Order: sequence, then structure tokens, then C-alpha cells
Amino acid sequence: MTHRILASILAADFARLGEDAQAALTAGADAIHFDVMDNHFVPNLTIGPDVCHALRSYGITKHIDVHLMTQPVDSLIAPFQQGGASAITFHIEAVEDVRATIAAIRASGCQVGVSLNPQTPIESVLPWVSLVDIVLVMSVQPGFGGQDFIASVYAKITTLRQHIEEKSSSCRIIVDGGVTPKNAGAIVAAGAHDIVVGSALFGADDYASAIEQLRAAMA
Ligand code: DX5
Ligand code: ZN
Repeated sequence: MTHRILASILAADFARLGEDAQAALTAGADAIHFDVMDNHFVPNLTIGPDVCHALRSYGITKHIDVHLMTQPVDSLIAPFQQGGASAITFHIEAVEDVRATIAAIRASGCQVGVSLNPQTPIESVLPWVSLVDIVLVMSVQPGFGGQDFIASVYAKITTLRQHIEEKSSSCRIIVDGGVTPKNAGAIVAAGAHDIVVGSALFGADDYASAIEQLRAAMA
């Protein structure tokens, strides 16, 4: 199993975003994780489709994993597809018609992800596993980087992974929030396929050595 490391640019230097995102990829990150916050679904405000497009124009060619912490969701699908998103993930708590939102992202041609907050039961996403490419399991309250990993999420990851294996689904579990070289091993042992890393990567002096430590922890 190859575990992917998605670099969360929430922790990057926004004044030189293209350069910093590329530096994380050059250091060995597999993809960019792009946090969209709307000051409504979460109490913070970040970046939108034009910034995604700007990263593509800058020359970022790797996978861009868009994490929508927004409500509504559907009106942002086309702009992000046009902005160069590879995958679009929405929160199960943010939509009324989950099936319709999944279908709209699928129709855009982007990979489809569903996410859930730490306090939301894992059972809420199990019915959708066969229809999505990603379940993004939040291991901190969405809204801010640099928070501590919530340990009760390990059990949710394991339940979800068992369900995915039972269904022979190719859905991947991505764990987002508070991931460091100290807990990355336990996170994949619990059943995660991939990790999102913000502060533990962009806060490091040497991105390549941070990635190396994360890979060693997951091996
Ligand atoms: C939190 C975001 C995360 C965050 C992760 O709302 O969804 O992607 O950037 O940052 P760290 O790794 O610092 O917890
Ligand atoms: Zn995120």
C-alpha cells in the first residue's frame, strides 16, 4: 500500500503560494490539499476557485484535492472544475441531498469526496462509500490549521476501513487535521490510506526531511 501525503497549503506562505506549493511537491508531497472556508460553515475565510486556477497557471501539475468547508456546496463545483481541481470533497453536514451533490461532482469529471466532522458518526458516510472516491475523515474541528489530532477518530477510521474492505470498494480514506510524524504511523495502522499535512510540513525548516519522517512513520 502506497500512502499519499497531501500538502495542505492552508499552512503555506500565501504571499508566495505557487512557489511554496511547488516546494512541497518538489520535496516529495504527492498532491496539494486546498482548504476552502466560507466564514459560514466554518468560522474562517480562505481561498476560492481563482486561486486554484492561479496555481495551475503558475505550473502546478499534480493532483489538487479541494476540500470544501462551505455551505452551499453545489454552486462551487463548476468554478472549481474550471479552476483545475482534481478532486472535490464536500461535508456531509453541509448538504441536504447528498446523492445530488455526489452526482454533480461526478458529472464535472472531478473525483468525488465526502467529509465528516470529528463529532459526526462514521455511520453517516457508510451508505455513500460505493459512490465516492474519497472519504476525508476530519481529525480536528474544521476551520483552522495547527490543532491537535482528536484521538477518538482512530476508531472511526477503523470502522470505515472495515466497511470499505467488506464492500471491496476502491474508496480511499484521507485523514485531515493534526497529522505529524508522531501519529502518522498510528493513523495508517488504524486504516487510513492517505494523510493531509499542513503545519507539520510547511512549518518545518526542511520540507524534504519532514516528508521523509512522515514516510518513515507510515512504512
Ligand atoms: C482544517 C483543514 C486542514 C488543515 C490541516 O480545517 O481542513 O486541512 O489545513 O492542517 P494541520 O496539518 O496543520 O492540522
Ligand atoms: Zn482540509
